[in-house]
Amino acid sequence: MLGPVLLAAARSDSIRRLVSAAPVTRPMVDRFVAGEQLDQCLQSVGSLADRGLEITVDHLGEDITERAEAVRNRDAYLALTEELAAAGLGARAEMSVKLSAFGQALPDGHDLAYANVLPVVEAAAAAGTTVTLDMEDHTTVDSTLAILGELRKRFPATGAVVQSYLFRTEEDCHALAGEGSRVRLVKGAYKEPAEVAFQDKREVDKAYVRCLKVLMAGKGYPMVGSHDPRMVAIAQDLAARYGRKQDEYEFQMLYGIRAAEQTRLVAQGHRMRVYVPYGTDWYGYFMRRLAERPANLAFFLRSLVSK
Ligand code: FDA
Repeated sequence: MLGPVLLAAARSDSIRRLVSAAPVTRPMVDRFVAGEQLDQCLQSVGSLADRGLEITVDHLGEDITERAEAVRNRDAYLALTEELAAAGLGARAEMSVKLSAFGQALPDGHDLAYANVLPVVEAAAAAGTTVTLDMEDHTTVDSTLAILGELRKRFPATGAVVQSYLFRTEEDCHALAGEGSRVRLVKGAYKEPAEVAFQDKREVDKAYVRCLKVLMAGKGYPMVGSHDPRMVAIAQDLAARYGRKQDEYEFQMLYGIRAAEQTRLVAQGHRMRVYVPYGTDWYGYFMRRLAERPANLAFFLRSLVSK
């Protein structure tokens, strides 16, 4: 019940101010976010890499309202790319970007987001790494997939994210399952209307399995983005059924969630990539993490009232 309320709150400025000012928020945020500064993030990335994990780094930011912010976000990613290369982490760490941080929702947003993300993708390729385009709410999917298509003409390793809760996604998976594509399948983290998305969790899970089948049967590189033990087991079964070796797909989980399972999968020889967010603009990301797990929310609310 509270999930949709939290997802709506994730886009409210007044609630943002309230939550950000609460002293109990910080320790909870630290669980999901690898620091506000780049050097803190690099430290986390280094220690994950030392433990055999792969990484995708997200410089937090989304839903910007000024063109100048898009440029600042682009520059933050360019600095991140340089630092990853300097630390010799290019081969282990890719980057995840939200096009709304690059201006996608502003006037002429499609072109603006493309113009801002292109230098990041170019720099990533020069540093021996790549970029995956996160997927945001359903109104952005066509624009994001069109930008992906453009980027992939020159940088075919650019990755996409698809969300199983959207009705359209199974078809998108067919379109994206070709040679050389990199597709992260997730369940979806935004508040979506019944006209476009399954509302029942069981339907979302069933759709996830259908999409996973399409990707595993295809010629691309599936990235299984889920903490759900059932989805992890089904992915392993499907990979075996379609004759994929362990380096022909990967698992992905978020920083701070099921860390022991991440290590266990690496020990079994799987490729496991951790999504590492950092930066000051953590509010929307944090609220989505609270919304998807009642235990996180209960803990947070308890600490609010006990202070
Ligand atoms: P779900 O939330 O359905 O939980 C199923 C089960 O997983 C639980 O019952 C429990 O067993 C286990 N589990 C889940 N969370 C746990 C926890 N904290 N501790 C212990 N067990 C837990 N979304 C989006 O819309 N766009 C995007 O670009 C991305 N990108 C992205 C990248 C990566 C790497 C990941 C892992 C996820 C995303 N997401 C995302 C978020 C995604 O859409 C989804 O909201 C979350 O992954 C939660 O869904 P799950 O599949 O993990 O399981």
